Amino acid sequence: MSVERPGAWTRFMAEARARMAEGVPLESSGTLTRLTGLVLEAVGLRVPVGAQCMVGMPGQAPVLAEVVGFSGERTFLMPAGDTHGLCSGARVLPCAPDMPGPVWGEPSRPIRRTGVLRLPMGNGLLGRVVDAQGLPLDHRGPVQDTVLAPMARDRINAMERDPVRQPLDTGVRAINALLTVGRGQRLGLLAGSGVGKSVLLGMMARYTGADVIVVGLIGERGREVKEFVEDILGADGRARSVVVAAPADAPPLLRMQGASYATAVAEHFRDQGRHVLLLLDSLTRYAMAQREIALAIGEPPATKGYPPSCFARLPQLVERSGNGLQGQGSITAFHTVLTEGDDPHDPVADAARAILDGHIVLSRALAEAGHFPAIDIEQSSSRVMHRLVPDRHLELARRFRALYSRYQKGRDLLQVGAYASGSDPALDEAIRLQPQMAQFLQQDLHQAATLEQSVAALAAALDPCRPGDV
Ligand SMILES: Nc1ncnc2c1ncn2[C@@H]1O[C@H](COP(=O)(O)OP(=O)(O)OP(=O)(O)O)[C@@H](O)[C@H]1O
Ligand SMILES: [Mg+2]
Repeated sequence: MSVERPGAWTRFMAEARARMAEGVPLESSGTLTRLTGLVLEAVGLRVPVGAQCMVGMPGQAPVLAEVVGFSGERTFLMPAGDTHGLCSGARVLPCAPDMPGPVWGEPSRPIRRTGVLRLPMGNGLLGRVVDAQGLPLDHRGPVQDTVLAPMARDRINAMERDPVRQPLDTGVRAINALLTVGRGQRLGLLAGSGVGKSVLLGMMARYTGADVIVVGLIGERGREVKEFVEDILGADGRARSVVVAAPADAPPLLRMQGASYATAVAEHFRDQGRHVLLLLDSLTRYAMAQREIALAIGEPPATKGYPPSCFARLPQLVERSGNGLQGQGSITAFHTVLTEGDDPHDPVADAARAILDGHIVLSRALAEAGHFPAIDIEQSSSRVMHRLVPDRHLELARRFRALYSRYQKGRDLLQVGAYASGSDPALDEAIRLQPQMAQFLQQDLHQAATLEQSVAALAAALDPCRPGDV
């Protein structure tokens, strides 16, 4: 027997005993064989997709990783942390299947891990800012009054969902009057970069009537998290809000997990009968994170580099919001979608339009002209509005859209002086009402307009001689 054998054997036995005490099956440890780009490859591991594992060497802080695929004997994992310092031959230990697993991680941030992903859920999240793993980011101590709950939930049978029937006041005049939103509706906020998506989302967070607001800040700038919490939500809004932040520098796994966690938190409060407003900024960053993962494990790219699995994942996330079972709570959701290069046919925007119950498009031309919120009325639509509002309101909205559109189409002629007044009565009326219509669409971000005020303003904009007559 060599000199090293007894030492190695004693160490192996000690480790085995420790792992048995933690409830980790002995046969399930694997070895890290490859790390290319983002993806970790291990052999000797037989655990299901979605399983949580710890990767590391003895004496080194382990990295949490999730199994995202396999090929024969090779298992692919995506890290949830920094892979700096990992080397070939590192051990891959699955966390115990059903019970809280090893308390690995930094001593200052103890994380109890389980084989399937379970994250903190409960009323203790209200007023808190947490990361995609449910750990507090707001320096207000540990999150109390929560239990670890799995992220996956049973789907609601489509026939048992309450339909969208009740109008919801968003506090934004143009939306209330022309794109009325219903409780339990899911909308997209589509725009290029820097056109005002986040600011509009903030206005809705402040003014929309909801019991609980869940904000998912996914893949956006880290700076915006603090701004959103302090400037936009304020003290009142914060008490009834949960903010889940996975900024741009978080690994793709955590960005996806953040969106899923925010949705799960919204589902939790909905199932308690509360009316929840879910704001997710942005759905595009969620799709991009999925693109990074799917490409890294070898899925072929399709439209604009997005592999097919991205478009399968989007409805899986979006369908989780909406109304609950009849008589229960609701999740009204706004997902922002970045139209890359201002391309209205961006694949994520196209997919979002198809799966959401409405979309609000923001226009760069309007934003550049200082017209805020820069909502492009012609391009936007709420697919449930006709079921929510009285005929009179619907008729006013239809008339506004017709006149607005008439003006936009005739604008080029007007600008070159090629239009002779009197030759088109509809255009003449549109020109007469244009200043009122433009004023109606603009709103200071610090002022709310209720649903009633919005409809009254709509009527006034269309007939300035009879303001407020609805
Ligand atoms: N309602 C508003 N009133 C005044 N200014 C606004 C308004 N909305 C947006 N802006 C201006 O537009 C800028 C960009 O807005 P915002 O950050 O919301 O854009 P975004 O679409 O979220 O951008 P990104 O795609 O980069 O996340 C703001 O910093 C602000 O100056
Ligand atoms: Mg933004």
